[in-house]
Amino acid sequence: MERPAWAPRSIDISVPSVSRIYDYYLGGSHNFEVDREAARRAMEFMPGLPKIMQANRAFMRRAVRFAADEGITQFLDVGSGIPTFGNVHEVAQQASPGARVVYVDHDPVAVAHSQAVLAGNDDVGVVAADLRKPREILSSPEVGQLIDLNRPVALLLVAILHFVEDADDPYGAVAELRDALAPGSLLVLTHASYEGIPLSPERAGGAVDVYKDIRNPLIMRPREEIARFFEGYDMVEPGLVPMPRWRPETGPEANDGPDDEDPWTFSGFAGVGRTA
Ligand SMILES: C[S@@+](CC[C@H](N)C(=O)[O-])C[C@H]1O[C@@H](n2cnc3c(N)ncnc32)[C@H](O)[C@@H]1O
Repeated sequence: MERPAWAPRSIDISVPSVSRIYDYYLGGSHNFEVDREAARRAMEFMPGLPKIMQANRAFMRRAVRFAADEGITQFLDVGSGIPTFGNVHEVAQQASPGARVVYVDHDPVAVAHSQAVLAGNDDVGVVAADLRKPREILSSPEVGQLIDLNRPVALLLVAILHFVEDADDPYGAVAELRDALAPGSLLVLTHASYEGIPLSPERAGGAVDVYKDIRNPLIMRPREEIARFFEGYDMVEPGLVPMPRWRPETGPEANDGPDDEDPWTFSGFAGVGRTA
């Protein structure tokens, strides 16, 4: 198989990756046949997966604009993925020129492509690190240079925590990041769940099995377990809700708002919390 320039030598391009599968759902071009094959298998069970991902991105953009409107100028996006349309730094810097963004991912393609896209943007940094090791994120040179932890930060954990198993203590990692943030910081989060999916958990489980097969298990948590990630935060209205229900009126883009009532987009939950 020919290796394109954006694929670092270190990666095994015969093994599917979560970030490249996600890129495929979103209509991106940074994926291989193995990724497309896994995505298509998952879509046999959940044909609405691309709709869910679009709703996830639309929520993320609304939440970033909300944070900027609240006066937040620093964004730490963990599990940022392969850059695509409407990235966090574009939305943040449009709403708040000079806003600083640090992208963090453990996937080498996501990191390499982010670095390529962001070359020359001094207000944005890219870190190769793992959410399960928050200290490595917080002590990275990029966070040190771009983020002042004495001032509020918007921490984005968007569509990542459902890839962290309980055995890896996702609650501990989220708490460690929270404890490093100044009062008035925001946690922006989405998470997959069987609640809200317009088909039976058994059927949706077929898609979950695809992720298990590629050794990146997808953990569908019930709403109350997702709510626990916000311990130490006060929920911003309207709380932890299906993605299209989170402040739909704040989205100027056509697909950001309440027009998008596709039943699939009600799968999973989205919320924003604020540290006291
Ligand atoms: C579904 S994508 C979400 C991308 C982006 N946040 C969004 O919502 O559009 C999940 C991303 O999280 C990354 N990821 C998964 N587990 C991770 C971990 N433990 N540490 C860092 N990144 C992780 C994957 O590599 C992937 O790029």
